[in-house]
Amino acid sequence: MDLKITKTRTPKPLPDDSKLGFGQIFTDHMFNMDYNPEQGWHDARIEPYGPIVMDPATMVLHYGQAIFDGLKAYRTGSGNVQLFRPQQNMSRMNRSAQLLCIPEIDEAFALKALKKLIAIEHDWVPRAQETSLYIRPTIVAMDPYLGVRPSHTYRFFIILSPVGAYYPEGFNPVKIWVTDKYVRAVRGGLGEAKTPANYAASLLGAEMAKEAGYTQVLWLDAVEQRYIDEVGTMNIFFVVDGELVTPPLGGSILPGITRDSVLALARLWNLPVSERNIAIDEAVAAHKTGALQEIFGSGTAAVISPVSHLAWKDEVLVVGDGAVGPIAQRFYDTLTDIQYGRVEDPFGWIVPIEKA
Ligand SMILES: Cc1ncc(COP(=O)(O)O)c(C=O)c1O
Repeated sequence: MDLKITKTRTPKPLPDDSKLGFGQIFTDHMFNMDYNPEQGWHDARIEPYGPIVMDPATMVLHYGQAIFDGLKAYRTGSGNVQLFRPQQNMSRMNRSAQLLCIPEIDEAFALKALKKLIAIEHDWVPRAQETSLYIRPTIVAMDPYLGVRPSHTYRFFIILSPVGAYYPEGFNPVKIWVTDKYVRAVRGGLGEAKTPANYAASLLGAEMAKEAGYTQVLWLDAVEQRYIDEVGTMNIFFVVDGELVTPPLGGSILPGITRDSVLALARLWNLPVSERNIAIDEAVAAHKTGALQEIFGSGTAAVISPVSHLAWKDEVLVVGDGAVGPIAQRFYDTLTDIQYGRVEDPFGWIVPIEKA
């Protein structure tokens, strides 16, 4: 498929790298591609960033038939730009597409288009310490129709946003709130897809956690409300008696690419690892005996997010001594060192991008 390129005639000034937040500023160009049953995916183009005009009846606005993904481009100390495991995001898009009845994309072509877009926007990848260019590929249902069925037409777009360091004041632990009142996703539902419904379902619980003075919600399984699923928008890891334990990919949690990278590093380092169900009661019991050494979340935004406090029913567990644990620190340092090109990448995860 051809990729048509139209450059903007009114480029925006680059933002100040030291003042970047998250997802508020967008680059000069975006990728767009359309789908209809006659032509399949067609009209792939990179063009000036701009609004998508929609009929008020457009299906995505009513029934949420949409998927997205999230990854980052990093600038190395020598000024090069690189992506971290972008093929994984493209294949996760297709797994999400299957669950949402959205036609699959050609992963190799989508990756090629993404690389071209980043090459064009090379200067937008910020240079300040631990900043990056956040990449948001999205597919939305476009039929103007109010009946409930999968749409016949779709738009796939990719937008880019320079983002600040996740830990501007240094690598800090978070306090999390375990809820047995709200659930995020259930096995057999959409939990393992990256789709807006899961994020809509998480809003009220997250607000309640904030009201109680916590940063994130820890979601339990939606059937028994007993087994740990994930935390906020991250997968979760426990270090119990020297073993790294994380819930298995059972259908209700997102298969995180950071999660997979943590597991790969743990195996490389010969750390004992187990992907198995962990009941919240087991975590509490391990805390009582002193076996629970660390808890941390993993995800593209924070990379690793150590947990200092866990609130469950009437108890607040202080994990370790409330400071960042050595295992969380080692994963954070190694992953960010690979992403920012400070160490050799032992897995072939890095995809360099030349400036266009
Ligand atoms: C619900 C949820 N779980 C886990 C993750 C972590 O996935 P990844 O490591 O691919 O960013 C994310 C973020 O992308 C998420 O939104």
